[in-house]
Amino acid sequence: MAQTKVEASSSRYTLSSFTHDQAARIVTIVWGDGHESRFAFIWLRHGEFFPALGRPEQASDAWCLLPEPPEAAVLGSINCNDCSLEIHWSHDGSTTRHDLAWLRDNCTSLEARRARQPKPQLWSGEDAAGFDWFDAGDMEDPATRMSLLEHVRDRGLALVRNVSVEPGTVMEFARYFGPVRRTHHGSLFNIRSLPRDRQGPRVGIGATAANAQAPHTDEGFRHATLGIMLFHCLKPDPSGGGRSMFADGIAAAEALRISDPEAFDFLTTVPLVQAAERNPQERFRTRGRIIATDTLGVVRGVKVADRTMPPPDLAENQVEPAYRAIRAFFAQLYAPERLFERCLQPGEMAIFDNQRVLHGRRAFNPDAGERCIQQVSVERDEFHNTFRQLAEQVGRFDLSNWEPDAGILSQA
Ligand SMILES: [Fe+2]
Repeated sequence: MAQTKVEASSSRYTLSSFTHDQAARIVTIVWGDGHESRFAFIWLRHGEFFPALGRPEQASDAWCLLPEPPEAAVLGSINCNDCSLEIHWSHDGSTTRHDLAWLRDNCTSLEARRARQPKPQLWSGEDAAGFDWFDAGDMEDPATRMSLLEHVRDRGLALVRNVSVEPGTVMEFARYFGPVRRTHHGSLFNIRSLPRDRQGPRVGIGATAANAQAPHTDEGFRHATLGIMLFHCLKPDPSGGGRSMFADGIAAAEALRISDPEAFDFLTTVPLVQAAERNPQERFRTRGRIIATDTLGVVRGVKVADRTMPPPDLAENQVEPAYRAIRAFFAQLYAPERLFERCLQPGEMAIFDNQRVLHGRRAFNPDAGERCIQQVSVERDEFHNTFRQLAEQVGRFDLSNWEPDAGILSQA
């Protein structure tokens, strides 16, 4: 094993020493702050073959970018300067250069990988009632926007006030998060109540009616379920009904893990069908786990809606366990202490992660006057891309490498 000493420093990004072990095919780096990173040879060699990260260009005649077998890599020499590590590979004569900061930020130790997956901050209804509100007038400040996006990432729900009540403003506001996604209701969904005599044949169905709706995931019947949702209130129900409800689905799932481990195991392992086949234009159907855990076992999302879950397509002996598990989860989701309720006022906006936070509303009297909320959605991928770009822009490099391990929310 060869070892090289470099100038010591307390910096996270400065090398203290590095060694390589030819037999184990590992390069070990000790950083200025004492942290140790161990990189497999093939992992480092792969750098040259991974143009998606803007790594060094590959040979012009290379048509397959996948690297050679792991055991083929032989490290010839390794050198470093203040900002990069240079490795010469003797098995094929190539050289790879590795930015030290990038290496540290992508350290593969369990500790570092856990740190790149910050745990969701769980909340109750009372907690959400105490959340700081953001002001729409501050949104041009990148640091404030960063703070808003961080709030959505970590808690799944953020509240904004003083948004213009000009119809369609939510379309513009959504661009702080990413491009607007087309949903079942088009790009912009007007949740506008109608008096009973104008509701037509769909009376009592869906968001545009006046009935209560239990907290649910929107469009969980899609394989790529809707991500970040924005609800912008233009007109509340004049009689004070129709309060919006939000519940932290991850907090409910974590509570279920303790209160009913059997139900938790079922819902994290057995995929269930969700479907929308209400008219000839709809044939949406997908199968996924109700509760998604990541590779470390942390709950990362939920996808559940009473109205889009058909009788489960399961073996006979799994049917009753499925109903028991769903019922136990509903009991957690709908527990009064979990719900944050608010009658959104004109200019107020709730922004939430549809794959974590369930939304619903109380009933109201449609004859009291018009109630209008405008809703748009942004893909989760786009939200996280914006998040990382903004983190770099405001110098929050600790956040720019954030990678959401969403579990297998929609995998069959
Ligand atoms: Fe909904």
